[in-house]
Amino acid sequence: MPTKTPERTARPRRYLMCRPTYFTVDYAINPWMDPAQPTDTALAVRQWERLYWLYRRLGHTVELIEPVPGLPDMVYAANGATVLDGRALVATFRYPERAAESDAYQAWFRARGYREVRRAGYVNEGEGDHLVAGRRVLAGTGFRTSRAAHAEAGELFGVPVVTLTLVDPRFYHLDTALAVLDDDHVMYYPEAFDADSRAVLRGLYPDAILADRADAEVFGLNVVSDGRRVLLPEAAKSLAGRLAEYGYEPIPVDVSELLKGGGGAKCCTLELRPA
Ligand code: ARG
Repeated sequence: MPTKTPERTARPRRYLMCRPTYFTVDYAINPWMDPAQPTDTALAVRQWERLYWLYRRLGHTVELIEPVPGLPDMVYAANGATVLDGRALVATFRYPERAAESDAYQAWFRARGYREVRRAGYVNEGEGDHLVAGRRVLAGTGFRTSRAAHAEAGELFGVPVVTLTLVDPRFYHLDTALAVLDDDHVMYYPEAFDADSRAVLRGLYPDAILADRADAEVFGLNVVSDGRRVLLPEAAKSLAGRLAEYGYEPIPVDVSELLKGGGGAKCCTLELRPA
């Protein structure tokens, strides 16, 4: 805990989201998904709309991509690409169930005059595994995104990319195990990483907030921070308290229906970083 509560500054952001019009769980590609458990699409839409409304109320800009029938996971827009300095590296998904999302995201970026739009040459699940932290990218591998994709991201964006290896299948994307709170501040669940990656994280972020298993299990790391306000799942009560100690303003959101697909607020939100 910091001796003095730090002063945090919000920066207005631009996000891309996809309404969960066709949300359901009819296949399982991560341990959270159970096709036998019923889903309520209308409830997912209401929870998503609250998130959409909150971002705008906080002063952020939200762009939308049209959902495609038959692509129920498209609501997890974070996976569509990684965007830095007006360059978009469009995802190449690990599982065939999501493969067709890439065309939709690529077309979206191409139609909007991004200075470069490249389809990843290796398995790359966008911001699910690539978290931009200031002028550095933290990149996850182990379950989805390949190591080769990290190098490709570093080459396209021209910034250092730090490879982190995930070891727990419940935390299969980096954004389920680590959150960037500010350009130089993160929180993470150490047990989701191998020993080398834990050492790297300790070295880079000695003042990180460390989450425990209970925090991670309620998707407490799958948060969206604008540098001050942090949208996190309602169930992550103890993490909310810790964020406040570090000067952040926690804003609880109910994403219970979207969790059935293995995603929370962050998974539904792709940050667009202009040139
Ligand atoms: N059902 C999706 C999948 O398994 C969930 C993706 C969650 N997104 C994220 N950024 N973690 O691919």
